[in-house]
Amino acid sequence: MLITKKSDVIPSDITSKENFENRRTLIKATGASIVTASGIFTGMLNRTANAASSKQKISNFVKTKYGVDEKLTPYDDVTSYNNYYEFGTSKTDPSIESRLFEPSPWSISIEGAVKKNKQIGIEDFFRLAPLEERIYRMRCVEGWSMVIPWLGLPLSKLIQWAEPTANAKFVEFISLSDDRMMPGQRIPVLDWPYVEGLRMDEAMNPLTIMALGMYGEVLPNQNGAPLRLVVPWKYGFKGAKAIVKIRFTETMPKTSWVKAGPNEYGFYANVNPTVDHPRWTQSSERRIGGGLFTPRIKTQMFNGYTEQVGQLYTGLDLSKNF
Ligand code: MTE
Repeated sequence: MLITKKSDVIPSDITSKENFENRRTLIKATGASIVTASGIFTGMLNRTANAASSKQKISNFVKTKYGVDEKLTPYDDVTSYNNYYEFGTSKTDPSIESRLFEPSPWSISIEGAVKKNKQIGIEDFFRLAPLEERIYRMRCVEGWSMVIPWLGLPLSKLIQWAEPTANAKFVEFISLSDDRMMPGQRIPVLDWPYVEGLRMDEAMNPLTIMALGMYGEVLPNQNGAPLRLVVPWKYGFKGAKAIVKIRFTETMPKTSWVKAGPNEYGFYANVNPTVDHPRWTQSSERRIGGGLFTPRIKTQMFNGYTEQVGQLYTGLDLSKNF
């Protein structure tokens, strides 16, 4: 985002089934521990019967009222046109460079102003509450958008379980730091690890989810496996991928993009068609997957989620707090 790129072309033929090859271990591990811990999780994750495909199905999830009724972005675009600087700065890098990334075993450390200050395993997320499908419109600050059927948990469920103390005003999300598996971290394009954050009321909003899957399958590496944040009324950069720490803080977290370019990226990052980014208009967007000649569409305030989140920002000057 900070780095101007020569090409903005959507590759159509990059995703291959090998991308999912290294997910077998995760599901074996996750499935096994889920089943041993409690029989009720049996069948939640099903290896597909087709040996030629290594995509990992998640069969057990509930549909919710939160979906948008829009055409889904093709899976191949969602998995081959990515921003994930730990794997390179071009859109095509993550799907290629994350092939050897190993998202299992995986633990998440819950830290800071919270009673349950402890490490939990990725499988614990499957136990907290039933996974929900949320079809969300996603808007990138660069001016493109997608519609993605996520599978995840409301972040509020994790927060309620973790029991933050009265000092917890913000939640900070910290991504993995490992330059052996994440070659992009050998280059200081950002101050690694990737850090994002939310105000506590934003984190508790029912729209905010921790995603473990999409399109009925576990998250591909390039989309943030095994666990990422999804906040549909904010620009995509709020959605930290490969999260290893969730920290409850009293002060506003210093997030990666704010540190990299405070004039270009704000902490709030609310989708706002009336406040342009210095380099990209925010008034309209290009829906990925529609072909090069598809007309741009008008961007909506809060990405169309004003009814659910508008009240969080009453009295806040959104041109200053962008
Ligand atoms: N998370 C990490 N750890 N590293 C990143 O570079 N990029 C962000 C966000 N999460 C990023 C990240 C940006 S800029 C965007 S737009 C979204 O991920 C893109 O998510 P997608 O590739 O799944 O569409």
